[in-house]
Amino acid sequence: MIINPAEHDPRDVYKILIGSIVPRPIAFVSTLSTEGVRNLAPFSFFNAVCAAPPVISISISYRAAEKDTLRNIRETREFVVNIVSDEFSEQMNLTSGEYAPEVDEFEVSGLTPVASELVRPPRVKESRVQMECRLHQIVPVSDRPMGATLVLGQVARFHVDDAIVDNFRIDPAKLNAIGRMGGNGYARTTNRFEMVRPVVK
Ligand SMILES: Cc1cc2nc3c(=O)[nH]c(=O)nc-3n(C[C@H](O)[C@H](O)[C@H](O)COP(=O)(O)O)c2cc1C
Repeated sequence: MIINPAEHDPRDVYKILIGSIVPRPIAFVSTLSTEGVRNLAPFSFFNAVCAAPPVISISISYRAAEKDTLRNIRETREFVVNIVSDEFSEQMNLTSGEYAPEVDEFEVSGLTPVASELVRPPRVKESRVQMECRLHQIVPVSDRPMGATLVLGQVARFHVDDAIVDNFRIDPAKLNAIGRMGGNGYARTTNRFEMVRPVVK
């Protein structure tokens, strides 16, 4: 099957993307509106971009109105990325409903807000790695239906649970992160293996 994306419904192109690029890590993003309303939502178009300085990316798609997360980041330039572990995956999923801007998804999910050090949005206490971010750049990619905006955030603080880290190495079994597959699918990180990279002389 050869697919020319220009000839297909963007919803089908989306299915090819999310079915192929798997598993995707999940950024569980907490923000604060200018009115002080807390917001929490998951984003799997998420990755690391750069280590010096540490910069991460999330892509936020358009729906009828701008998503609360994008509006809050645009207006306040601050957010926290919380890594999702299997233990609170169901609470994470609860936050992904299309709630009105005045709804606080910490309350919807029962997850616990805890104050950040440098930014105003709270962290998710249940998350074992939390990254306090300041907006680095917003890159508008497309405002067509199923278009999206890329958000680059510079990490100003990492909070890592002492119990899962040794000499800066995070134990993947203790982090127990989940990833996003296509459709409503998820993957656990319980089936791992190692490969040593070749040494080229
Ligand atoms: C696991 C998961 C991953 C998601 N990834 C994305 C994503 O990468 N980009 C996006 O725009 N929406 C994504 N969504 C949907 C948003 O979470 C959803 O639109 C949410 O209501 C946005 O909340 P907000 O309006 O409070 O920002 C995802 C949902 C789930 C459950």
